[in-house]
Amino acid sequence: MSFTIVEQAPARMNRSELAVPASKMRFLEKAAQSSADVVFLDLEDAVAPDEKPQARKNAIQAIQELDWGDKTLSVRVNGLDTHYMYRDVIDIIEQSGERLDLLMLPKIGTASDIYALDMLCTQVEDAVGRQKRLGFEIIIETALGMANVDEIAAASKRNESLHFGVADYAASTQARTTMIGGPHADYGVLTGEAGDSDRQYHWGDMWHYAVSRMVVAARAYGLRAVDGPFGDFSDSEGFRAQANRAGVLGCEGKWAIHPSQLDLANEVYSPSEADITKAKRIIEAMEEATAQGLGAVSLDGRLIDIASIKQAENMVKKAEQIAAAS
Ligand code: GLV
Ligand code: MG
Repeated sequence: MSFTIVEQAPARMNRSELAVPASKMRFLEKAAQSSADVVFLDLEDAVAPDEKPQARKNAIQAIQELDWGDKTLSVRVNGLDTHYMYRDVIDIIEQSGERLDLLMLPKIGTASDIYALDMLCTQVEDAVGRQKRLGFEIIIETALGMANVDEIAAASKRNESLHFGVADYAASTQARTTMIGGPHADYGVLTGEAGDSDRQYHWGDMWHYAVSRMVVAARAYGLRAVDGPFGDFSDSEGFRAQANRAGVLGCEGKWAIHPSQLDLANEVYSPSEADITKAKRIIEAMEEATAQGLGAVSLDGRLIDIASIKQAENMVKKAEQIAAAS
């Protein structure tokens, strides 16, 4: 362990995060009854400019009046480059009461963006005497944001999670795609050499670097890492594959841009019975090994050592968190 102890963000379930346009009151009502771990009421890109003031009012009303159960509740405000953002922050904090947990901050480019928002939130919270400090969930979705991802992750004690906003990221990096998430047929490798008759083409994951990079920054500063949208909500297998890839890299949840994606996300990001049993066996085997003064042993023909305990403990902790929440 480093001598630097990293403080962890508050533990929250974040397997599924439902995006709902706050311009549509009936969608907000449905979202309150959904199986999402986190719901974010969107004031940003799912809301047309003319609808922004009404969306803000709907969000305030929905936060105050709907029964959100034990869901984590968030509002995605507009970007710092718009004139909507200051009013989003002020109205939401002044008028929505204590139920809101988080603000989602889009298109963050530098640590100073977070500093500015922290300052504004702190002033409004102090002015209204808010008891609970709002946390920040930050979308990494621009080339500038990715270039500064470490400083952004470390920029405020309010920070709880980093999210990969694949659609804006593709636009910002000028990636040659018009899809929202998922693989691209042109991003692949060809096996073999010129002249081979059995060459095969395998699709690769064009988002691998971006998701990995964000995960490292998030975990280095004690934050959750969450994968963003998958646009084709008719493709549940595609969603599952993308969610699994992000999960294997260290994300602990994924957005749902349609309610049909919620149960998939909850399932993919909950450890299976087999995973939990295996993790418990690793912990037991390592306890025995330690008692015998050994640092490493074999289990089912594979080496396990002290690092395996930490991996297994993460898995068991996650399962306990899920059991406690259900
Ligand atoms: C999310 O906001 C995205 O741009 O993918
Ligand atoms: Mg975006």
